[in-house]
Amino acid sequence: MSNREVEALARQIAGLRLATPEQIDDVRSGEALADTEEFLRVMERKGYLTPFQTAKLRRGEKDGYFLGKYRLLYRISTGSFGRVFRADDPSTGKVYAVKVLRNRWSNNPRTIELFEREARVGMSLKHPNIVSILEVDRDAASRQHYIVMEFVEGGTLKEILAIRKKLRDAEALRLLDDAASGLEYAFLQGVTHRDIKLTNILVSSSRQAKLVDFGLAGVCAADGGEGELVDRSVDYAGLEQATGVPPGDVRSDIYFLGCVLYEMLSGRSPLIQTKDKRERMKRERFENVLPLSPDEIVAPRSVFDLVERMMSLDPKRRFQNPSQLLDALREARAEVSMEIPIDQIVKEEDAARLLLVQSNERLKKAMEDKFKEKGYVVESVTRAGGALEIFQQRPADVIVVDVGALGMPGVHCLQQLLKEARKMRRQCSALVLLSEKQESWAGKFPTSSSMAVLVRPVTLGVLTQKLLDMVPPIKL
Ligand SMILES: Nc1ncnc2c1ncn2[C@@H]1O[C@H](COP(=O)(O)OP(=O)(O)O)[C@@H](O)[C@H]1O
Ligand SMILES: [Mg+2]
Repeated sequence: MSNREVEALARQIAGLRLATPEQIDDVRSGEALADTEEFLRVMERKGYLTPFQTAKLRRGEKDGYFLGKYRLLYRISTGSFGRVFRADDPSTGKVYAVKVLRNRWSNNPRTIELFEREARVGMSLKHPNIVSILEVDRDAASRQHYIVMEFVEGGTLKEILAIRKKLRDAEALRLLDDAASGLEYAFLQGVTHRDIKLTNILVSSSRQAKLVDFGLAGVCAADGGEGELVDRSVDYAGLEQATGVPPGDVRSDIYFLGCVLYEMLSGRSPLIQTKDKRERMKRERFENVLPLSPDEIVAPRSVFDLVERMMSLDPKRRFQNPSQLLDALREARAEVSMEIPIDQIVKEEDAARLLLVQSNERLKKAMEDKFKEKGYVVESVTRAGGALEIFQQRPADVIVVDVGALGMPGVHCLQQLLKEARKMRRQCSALVLLSEKQESWAGKFPTSSSMAVLVRPVTLGVLTQKLLDMVPPIKL
């Protein structure tokens, strides 16, 4: 009977185009499957289905796996405005970020009109420091509105600050330069952002900053219907009220970009953070900003001046447009680069190196993304045999080996790498992932603070947390 259930589930998965017939056959012919649960587990372990997909299948959900031609892989986050998914196009394998408008907003024709208009304006913006919008559409089946964007591998500035606490002046100014360049380009096309904040600045794995969500906040702000404003619009509304400027004034973007710079340098937000909307609207909130002190950050005077000018409460004293900001910013950058001692430049790359040995392509990709997002410099190999050579050329601080996927060659590879590390007199931690069937192997590995063994089922989140506990992404 269970076989017939597996059969039906396999047909459903193929019918939904969640996996290819080859992938399904691979799992069904590979090992004897007890039931549908085991089938799903193996499909997930092999990287043919994501946890997001298997969870939906377990709940017996028949739809919600696709939006248009985009296959949803997992949810990145839920914001006030909508949800963001990592998705791919199964026919090309290309990955995208898909933002879905919440139902609450989807029911209001005026919001939809604005949403589509803003998204279309966004589509016309093509710049290296702006996340491109590729498509705006409505799903025929669910009638949900969504935006398809380029997927930025990396993390938000907020995530980076959560790990690094604060950034050195040179790095903060470089990221600010990127953001201001995007802002300048859009401003010259007649578009302002209206929602500058840490989570709307994405930093790619090559450390390029990109602005996301151009103009979208305006959509929610305009939706006064239920008198409900999205969080961030409150901050903008508060500033606009305190300074007597109309919505959409680019100088408000410059102010909030100043807040971002302030936080990058000091590790704390210049504005008091509260959920109370009335408090957030108060003029005093903007008047009571504590100036940055030379005691807490090391930077030339010009950097302090830059923050003060950007965050000046009198809009006339601020930079009047992004180009003016960029001029001053580049002068400050020239000064900062002259001041950096050589050893600090070398230390720019002081992230921990991670070598991933993972034969499952899909898992490899997901793990790589996750580890990079946390700040590791990641290199990966699919074959156990290729790992030693890479390690000899670029020794890692931590190795992650999926013995569950690799089998015995994975164990040999691990032993070889640890031996090599000892030979090099190099501290190297290891994280080993075993399959359920290999549970009995766990005892073979010496556990210590530099070696951890995890037995499946284990989520990527748990795995990553273990890693973070063992080896911080930034060498201190
Ligand atoms: N194009 C993208 N590529 C990768 N991740 C993205 C992209 N757009 C958004 N994200 C991620 O989705 C998260 C949620 O975005 P959003 O719904 O706009 O919420 P908020 O900006 O309020 O945090 C972001 O913080 C970011 O981590
Ligand atoms: Mg956003």
